[in-house]
Formats: sequence, C-alpha cells, structure tokens
Amino acid sequence: YTILVANGPNLGHLGVRQPEIYGSRGMDDLPGMVASLMGDRADGVALEFFQSNSEGALIDRFELAREQGVNGIAFNAGAYTHTSLALADCLAWIDVPCVEVHLSNIWARTGEPLRQQSLMGRRCVGVIAGFGILSYALAVQALVEHLEAEC
Ligand code: DQA
Repeated sequence: YTILVANGPNLGHLGVRQPEIYGSRGMDDLPGMVASLMGDRADGVALEFFQSNSEGALIDRFELAREQGVNGIAFNAGAYTHTSLALADCLAWIDVPCVEVHLSNIWARTGEPLRQQSLMGRRCVGVIAGFGILSYALAVQALVEHLEAEC
C-alpha cells in the first residue's frame, strides 16, 4: 500500500513549533514508529510525505494522489481542519480513504472552542488525535487495516 502522509499549514517545523502543545518529535520519527507498531507488515507500506502551507497546493496534491492510485491518506490539515470547506470538498470526491490526524487532542483544547470543530472529520474514515507523532503512525496502521478489510 502507498500511504500519503500530508500536513497542512504550520506543520513544516514539527518538534520546533510550540513543543509544549505539539511535542518535540519530528516526522523523521514516523517510519520507525510505523515499523514498531506494524512489525513485518510495515514492509508492505510505502510512505509518501507532503507538507504545504497552502490550501490549493494540498488540493492539487490530493488530486494527484487520486490519479497515482495512492491507497490512503493520513492528513493533518492544521488550522484548515476548522475552516476549509474546499479541502473537505476535495476529500468528498477523490475516493481515497483518509484518516484525520492531530498531534494535540483538539477536543481537550476547551479554551479554544473553534478547534473542537472539524470540517474534515465527516469526509474521513476516522480520526486520531492527541498522541503527537504517534497519531500519524496509528493512522497509517488503521488505514492499512481498513484497506485490508475492504479487499
Ligand atoms: C493541529 C490542531 C489545529 O487546531 C492547529 O491549527 C494545528 C495543529 C494538531 O495537530 O493538533 O496546526 O491540527
């Protein structure tokens, strides 16, 4: 399976940006986490990475993923999670299963009610939030199990 790990705005400096909220680990740790979660099954998973601060560039990448036959997307839309009807519309038609990912538990950020709403969630297979970089690894594992169950 080819899984696209996609990050939206302000997620290009993971480990550096507000580590007290988003953790001190970077995306470099992800392949090792996937390997330790999935063991030998990780050998059948090819990860592709994409990050953009631009809504349109993310949509372009997802349209390309559809054309390329990418099997699944683990997507942290950053603040677009809460605002982007355009990204939600994209996920609604490309027919590539997506898992919504967040480093922080957006529902526990009670001082910021806007963050507790997601426009992405209704277009996704599921949501994993609150585990830092591990959220992405869990999303990859869940996507693979979802794809296997669909076969
Ligand atoms: C985030 C949560 C969003 O509210 C925020 O805008 C981000 C990161 C997370 O991973 O916890 O940029 O998606």
